[in-house]
Amino acid sequence: MPRIFCGAPTSLFLLCVALGAAAMPPAALAAPAADDEARIASRIESLIARMTLEEKAGQLTLVAAVREDEESDRDRKPGEPTAMQRQLAEIREGRIGAVFNGIGADWARKLQRAAVEESRLGIPVLISVDAIHGFHTIFPVPLAEAASWDPNLAERVARAVAIEASAAGVAWNLAPNVDIARDARWGRGVEGAGEDVLLGQRFAAARVRGYQKSDGKSAADAHLSDRDAMLATPKHFAGYGAAEGGLDYNVAELSERTLREVYLPPFKAAFDAGALAVMAGFHEIGGVPMMANRQLLTHLLRDEWKFDGIVVSDYAADHELVVHGVAKNDREAVKIAFMAGVDVSMTSRLYQQYLPDLVRAGEVPMARVDEAVRRMLRVKMKLGLFDKPYERMDARRERTLNHTRQTRALAREAAQRSIVMLRNDRSLLPLGKGKQRIALIGPFASGPDHLNGPWTVFDDRRDAVSVEAGLRAALGRDAQLSVTQGSGIDSVLPGGIEAAVSAAQNADVVILAIGESEAMTGEAQSRTEVVVPPAQQALAEAIKVTGRPTVVLLRTGRALALEGAVRDADAILVTWFLAAETGNAIADVLFGDVSPSGRLPVSFPQRPGQVPIYYARKNTGRPPPPGPFQEYTARYRDISVDPLYAFGFGLSYSTVEYGKPELSTATLGPNGTLTASVMLRNIGKRAVDEVAQLYLRDRVGSVTRPLRELKNFERVKLAPGESKRVSFTLRREDLVFLGPDLKPVSEPGDYDLWIAPSSSGGIAASFELLGSAE
Ligand code: NOJ
Repeated sequence: MPRIFCGAPTSLFLLCVALGAAAMPPAALAAPAADDEARIASRIESLIARMTLEEKAGQLTLVAAVREDEESDRDRKPGEPTAMQRQLAEIREGRIGAVFNGIGADWARKLQRAAVEESRLGIPVLISVDAIHGFHTIFPVPLAEAASWDPNLAERVARAVAIEASAAGVAWNLAPNVDIARDARWGRGVEGAGEDVLLGQRFAAARVRGYQKSDGKSAADAHLSDRDAMLATPKHFAGYGAAEGGLDYNVAELSERTLREVYLPPFKAAFDAGALAVMAGFHEIGGVPMMANRQLLTHLLRDEWKFDGIVVSDYAADHELVVHGVAKNDREAVKIAFMAGVDVSMTSRLYQQYLPDLVRAGEVPMARVDEAVRRMLRVKMKLGLFDKPYERMDARRERTLNHTRQTRALAREAAQRSIVMLRNDRSLLPLGKGKQRIALIGPFASGPDHLNGPWTVFDDRRDAVSVEAGLRAALGRDAQLSVTQGSGIDSVLPGGIEAAVSAAQNADVVILAIGESEAMTGEAQSRTEVVVPPAQQALAEAIKVTGRPTVVLLRTGRALALEGAVRDADAILVTWFLAAETGNAIADVLFGDVSPSGRLPVSFPQRPGQVPIYYARKNTGRPPPPGPFQEYTARYRDISVDPLYAFGFGLSYSTVEYGKPELSTATLGPNGTLTASVMLRNIGKRAVDEVAQLYLRDRVGSVTRPLRELKNFERVKLAPGESKRVSFTLRREDLVFLGPDLKPVSEPGDYDLWIAPSSSGGIAASFELLGSAE
């Protein structure tokens, strides 16, 4: 079978992937002006020539921020410096290059003054933060935002986060998380964009653009030095989301194919969008902890991809090389990590401690130190820190930009669009705002907790709008709303079920706010039973017996296997952790001011034992026939391999009909294009935002290909009764994959194509990719 090579080197493959899937040709971004680069380079070299080894190690050291009033200060002896004084002294000595998590503009200014005005070389300090889904104003968790299937929204949110954070002195965000997550047990799936490669690429690039203020047209770093831009850090390089058993920090057992096809493309998309930093993960692949992985950190990142930003370790992950058992002590751990390609060490201070000595002993070449320092200084220059060190540290701006009306409005819009409606039997929703009696029941009905989600550095939860507050604001003073807790999150509340049942009996409709707490999801929060906690499930079962129509509001940071009364509720809205505007956005959707438009970024399993579960799976040699259990096929004894709700699924308050896909040609030539289009018709009575999704299947390949792969999508606004044609253009590059030798190829042959409302179903069309004689 003749093959068409997209380009022999693997870097080109990734370029092809980015071209085809991220639809953001990196070549389109103009290169930064050569004289700027030359000016930066000469400033850097002149600094490096004057730096001591200790100062160089200092630039490669990122430490945790300390406050003016650290608890530890209370135990200090008279005359001893405070933690803050010690940190300032270290900055003056040039022993610290960067600090996280930024505390505020005035605090940052003190650090900057020590660095710029009181240190020997005046190198500015870089303040960083983990603003994963907000700084002061907290936005929906990234997984929720991915449910919007709207990268432009993610870019606007990232921009708003950068504006707030940078006004507090922060120039470096330890985000976005671009880990693909296919195992719902893994708690950190909440930080990313879900299970899919293309969605992951689009959201990675959008978030980078938002943080770094790139416009996608001029050079990616053209606005990085603006005072409201900050450096983005895609993480956790690479394959961290594949943790075995869904157990955080665990081994990821990945083939190079899966790594390159699934886990790496979002990173590449982030770099193509201009990201100048990357964080190496805690995990290992194939016996090599990521911190020691020269193959990925140097050969792939530098040699293949030409990445020229900084590689930062995760939290004390250099020290963990000792714990992993590949270094006998911290000194050796530093040598291994640094030589593998980790430029900057986070919090352990081990680079500060050991690098100078390792160089003096001839175990680490000075050239490698200079290379890392050069990268760090370059990033600081690109951020404008040398020319305008205090620009981001303006307490007045910080106050003015904190929680602005526009930012809150964006938080509400993001929350509205993150909500996914999974069921709506007999059109129970939207509810009228009229005279009905509503029983709001559940541990997440009220109060300021568990709204924000797991990653908030500043605890601004009092600003967040609870479900109860949102409903009351929507219903006004005449609301006939009772609120009953019914259950603890993880434990039975004495008398709770009885009270809830009586509230339900006295109501026309029940709104059941149940699901996961903030503590159940996020870093180190892996769960084996990805279900609604049993105490809350019992509450749902008891409410079902009342026969009252019930709407479930599902708070969660992962896909859950819904069971019994929760699965069968009349209506289900997945409301994730929607943060600041939770209650308002939920009310907007419940009462029909907004039609739900979110789509699942992760497959919801029928049972927890199905995970990892994802739509882009392989056929196997024994695909199960539809219907009842059949021996010796690839299915479980007890349930089918299908998810409960498929990736891409979500309902709205209208019905959109999809016509049969029409193709501009039945054959796609090597240099040609094919346009696939479909007619969408809103046959309901409400305006909607439909998400049309283009999937392909390569029927026969030299290696097995997924049953479906998302290749593009588009949000389409449809007024009631309106019809619109949606078109997608395909080129050969869109069909490229890694052949048997891991080289990028596109192979002539037959392809199935769907333009569908989710990854399951839809009407198939087919076309042939023609080959050229090689
Ligand atoms: C550990 C996490 O893995 C990483 O994502 C985060 O940036 C650091 N802690 C710092 O908070």
